[in-house]
Amino acid sequence: MQNFLSVHDVPDIQGLMEKALKYKAHPLKDQTLGVGKRIGLLFLNPSLRTRLSTQVAAKNLGMEPLVFNVDKEGWALEFEEGAIMSGSTVEHVKDAAPVLGQYFDILCIRTFPSLKNRDDDYSELYIKQFVKHAGVPVVSLESATLHPLQSLTDLITIRENVKAGRKPKIVLTWAPHVKPLPQCVANSFSQWVNAWGGADFVITHPEDYELSEEFTRGATITHDQDAALKDADFVYVKNWSTFNDYGKIYSNDPDWMLTEEKLQLTNNAKVMHCLPVRRNVELSDEILDGPSSLVTQEAGNRVWAAQAVLSEILKPSL
Ligand code: CP
Repeated sequence: MQNFLSVHDVPDIQGLMEKALKYKAHPLKDQTLGVGKRIGLLFLNPSLRTRLSTQVAAKNLGMEPLVFNVDKEGWALEFEEGAIMSGSTVEHVKDAAPVLGQYFDILCIRTFPSLKNRDDDYSELYIKQFVKHAGVPVVSLESATLHPLQSLTDLITIRENVKAGRKPKIVLTWAPHVKPLPQCVANSFSQWVNAWGGADFVITHPEDYELSEEFTRGATITHDQDAALKDADFVYVKNWSTFNDYGKIYSNDPDWMLTEEKLQLTNNAKVMHCLPVRRNVELSDEILDGPSSLVTQEAGNRVWAAQAVLSEILKPSL
């Protein structure tokens, strides 16, 4: 694997899932694979799970991780080609990325969308500039439109909890939120579940919250949440802002929050969320604190997903 930006970088999804679960069973089985190698984790936005789980994963492989909060500690980066840098940006990514490539063997980056200009966000300008100029493998820690480490984690968590002999029904449901959020997690989850192909996949959201068809194609889409939840084995809860009229909140209807009552419609479904979660806005306390919630197991699995990806990138250089 050269880079890890989306499911398209993964030649064998099932194999990568197996590898992650093997690391969960034996975390230190490849503890010398990355000895002598450094991994840089750059954050243009906050993170709890991604920054810590990726560091733990790197250490399990013998790598030395270094974290840099670009947004707080670094120079303001410019990404526009040909920019006249007379404003607030101090350093062009064309100058910064090759330097980072000298310091690190693998570069991991978290960017975020502006949620103002859809074409700019969906062109993935920021992370692609790092790929173009760093000269070392780049791993997405969440980009403008996708969160692939989260999605690999989600699939292995489903794999651990799936009932034997049953093709699971997975429902991705929109939930209310107080702020306009990116579509990254929902896009990426849809992309990975569709590419994996091991489930019946339904997406439910209010009208005008359609995601990009590029990621949802292959899923059943409905505005009827109750119908979607019927017989579900897994319910993945996530808010996202509008895609068509980009980055807006059209609805904050609290009726879309998943409750125990709604969960009765399902096949004793397990409930997933990538965290952080706004309690009693996106998901009720009763679900998050109850037996159907997988959120802690899911967040714990971030380590094994990251370890499997880093291991695949390290392999060719052995
Ligand atoms: N799920 C996730 O990416 O969490 P963090 O934003 O805390 O990294």
